[in-house]
Amino acid sequence: MEEKKKVLFRVHNFRKYFPVKKTSVFQKEQLYVRANDGIDLEIYEGETLGLVGESGCGKSTFGRVLLQLYDQTIGYTIYNGRSIYELKPEYVTKILSKLPEEKAKYEKLQAKADEKKKVMESAAEGQDLRIATNKAMFAQNDADKVFYGMVQLIGGLYTADDLHEVGKTVLADYKAKCEAMEKGSKLEDLKNTAELDVLRAKYQDRPDFAKYDAELDTGIDLARLSVNEMRVLRKDMQLIFQDPYSSLDPRMTVGQIIGEGLMTHHIFEKNGDEMQEYIMDVMDECGLQKYFFHRYPHQFSGGQRQRIGIARSLALRPKFVICDEAVSALDVSIQSQIINLLLDLKEKEDLTYLFISHDLSVIKYISDRIGVMYLGNMVELTTTEKMFEHPMHPYTDALLASIPTTDVENRKEIKVLEGDIPSPVKPPSGCKFHTRCKFCTDICKEEVPEFKEMEPGHFVACHHCL
Ligand SMILES: Nc1ncnc2c1ncn2[C@@H]1O[C@H](COP(=O)(O)OP(=O)(O)OP(=O)(O)O)[C@@H](O)[C@H]1O
Ligand code: SF4
Ligand SMILES: [Mg+2]
Repeated sequence: MEEKKKVLFRVHNFRKYFPVKKTSVFQKEQLYVRANDGIDLEIYEGETLGLVGESGCGKSTFGRVLLQLYDQTIGYTIYNGRSIYELKPEYVTKILSKLPEEKAKYEKLQAKADEKKKVMESAAEGQDLRIATNKAMFAQNDADKVFYGMVQLIGGLYTADDLHEVGKTVLADYKAKCEAMEKGSKLEDLKNTAELDVLRAKYQDRPDFAKYDAELDTGIDLARLSVNEMRVLRKDMQLIFQDPYSSLDPRMTVGQIIGEGLMTHHIFEKNGDEMQEYIMDVMDECGLQKYFFHRYPHQFSGGQRQRIGIARSLALRPKFVICDEAVSALDVSIQSQIINLLLDLKEKEDLTYLFISHDLSVIKYISDRIGVMYLGNMVELTTTEKMFEHPMHPYTDALLASIPTTDVENRKEIKVLEGDIPSPVKPPSGCKFHTRCKFCTDICKEEVPEFKEMEPGHFVACHHCL
């Protein structure tokens, strides 16, 4: 049997909306750029997940919100690289010590969300409907936030009669687990307190116990962290940009650039020989000569600057690295050197990558799985092999068919995607791809296709999968 993969990130109903400035005081409707519009995804530990899609479909935004560099408008992001017992975020104690109040708050917010939903259902077409839909969605999000805050910590015990007792018992269990971790226990070896087991046994036959228990998570809900708590996690998650030059301070030497993060994250307390030696080792690992230590960014080529960017990120020993078009600005020969460096480092350091690129050949080479995005949504997600063998979404099919091939014998007719990408401010109704899809039928214009698992591990959002 295949070993169950450990989930490093779990995102649910992930949305990032950028408000568009109103153009007049009479404008009733607040418009948003829907950069990410409801993504559900798991990123497995140790994998390279490739993300593709046309320019503006929301790839970079997804990466940035995942790292909480932008606030998440709606949904949650759970990080399992560390557990709540290790980080001890304040929100856990806050929620557990006030469970009955939290539930009452949730019920009130849910009633409000239901009301807004009714208004939406009776709203007229056009602007009124859009305004009512947004209001209903934000109200539902307020309720969901409180709800998931509880069930991620107590799971099936949400069905219990006495939530005060649940809060007390789970909190005592949480404190015992935090203490055990401090003493060196591993997450997988932690055991529930006897009191928690008794309480769970009492309610486990309740009808919705299993449903709520599926939400139970020892991971960290990133959007609930304070700035200081998030700062502790920053070191785990690094971002490598397309243009390393603009992110390298021209007044700092390579040694200072790499050393800066090491000091900020207290990996070294002082800039001494030990740190210098460590930096030189990392430079060596990333294919940079040690004597470059005292040189400035402008003295390097594009490929070398990208190596400096990689060394700066990797020096922090992260668990997760987002490469956002990290090789797109480089010559093809340098591209392959950098990609091979990234693959070597991944192997050595046990990293997980989110590899964002609009270049499908690069994505194919580096990724274990590929996610295809269109106008803020994930439309297809599966292993690299399956994606190229049997794409099921018409958009993926069109994207793959547009890769130029050097194989003259088997060259297929290049099908260029027709039509412009619609606006992410007022996207098309139903399936957002319907304005450009040759398989479009009436249902596509009206109903949003669900992102469904069509075969094991192969998710597609389409009413008429290929
Ligand atoms: N800070 C911002 N404020 C307002 N809108 C933004 C902001 N950042 C991104 N957007 C918008 O969000 C949408 C998604 O942008 P994003 O940069 O994530 O796309 P992308 O897929 O990375 O594109 P590319 O391949 O060109 O890098 C675009 O419509 C963009 O204009
Ligand atoms: S749902 Fe309809 S419009 Fe959308 S991709 Fe599938 S066939 Fe095309
Ligand atoms: Mg981008």
